[in-house]
Amino acid sequence: MPVANKPVLFYGIEALKEAGIEDIGIVVGDTKEEIKEAAGDGSRWDIKISYIEQDEPLGLAHAVKISADFLKGDSFVMYLGDNILKSGIKSLVEEFRENKPNALILLTEVPDPQMFGVAELEDGKVVNLVEKPKHPKSNLALVGVYMFDSHIFEAVNAIRPSWRNELEITDAIQHLVENGYEVHPHLVTGWWKDTGKLEDILDVNRLILETVEEKIEGKVDERSKTNGQVVIGRDTEVRNSIIRGPAIIGAGTEIIDSYIGPFTAIQDNCCINKTEIENSIILEGSRIDDIGSRIDESLIGRDVKISKCPPRPSVYKFMVGDQSNIVIK
Ligand code: G1P
Repeated sequence: MPVANKPVLFYGIEALKEAGIEDIGIVVGDTKEEIKEAAGDGSRWDIKISYIEQDEPLGLAHAVKISADFLKGDSFVMYLGDNILKSGIKSLVEEFRENKPNALILLTEVPDPQMFGVAELEDGKVVNLVEKPKHPKSNLALVGVYMFDSHIFEAVNAIRPSWRNELEITDAIQHLVENGYEVHPHLVTGWWKDTGKLEDILDVNRLILETVEEKIEGKVDERSKTNGQVVIGRDTEVRNSIIRGPAIIGAGTEIIDSYIGPFTAIQDNCCINKTEIENSIILEGSRIDDIGSRIDESLIGRDVKISKCPPRPSVYKFMVGDQSNIVIK
């Protein structure tokens, strides 16, 4: 899933690289081919990427278990591929390397702790961790970035599957706490997002677009106007349109007689014709044609076509994939 036209996973890989980690094993499941195709062997970042296949989604602690051969007893960072942190993880990895606890966990205050692993602290020390508690004892959620030394293997081998039939990394860390190992908490202050939901994907898209710098490689005709931070890729043509940044448009896309508002990311080879859109993400190869109303807070997949129905019969026509959500006026 790209945000600001870059796969979420790449933000994680780049954060690891920035922290000096150059040997990365990606645990893959059903989507392994897509992930391998996108990230490759890591040479584009000048790092080494290996793939570790998890046959069934049996939990994060299970992912650690099956990575034993890859990790060879080293200390490591576990970074959940759908997490993005504003300030990266460089200083945290330094803290871990310096203090050498058995585990370093990242925590942040959230309004809905029951959706996450939750930590209870006493005098700055971790005393209890529970995965998605019904009645959370604090509002401190576990961020999906963890650092461990090899003692985590003792823990992942000791715990039992949870109610959702997963070996929970939260339970494994709780095992470390209960057995007297040092688990250091670190409170994250900058923004952190787990991009599991549309709302969060759009939020991160906004947060990242706020940081892009203007770069116009495509063609913007004299009847068009761009303002603010706008990125327009190669071979993209903008005709008689307004693009108000922050916004990013990929390569080979056409924007015709349209308004592209702030916080919009449009990928490569799309065509936006007579359309107003803002606060949205449009993936590769999609086409939106004259739909007569502004599109807002939307995520539009790959090779999607949205167009206006002819005057008669006045109907809606859909071909919509699984778990879609359509709101009409
Ligand atoms: C996982 C962890 C949870 C953590 C969250 C962070 O949740 O189990 O403890 O707070 O990632 O993104 P899951 O994505 O499996 O629901």
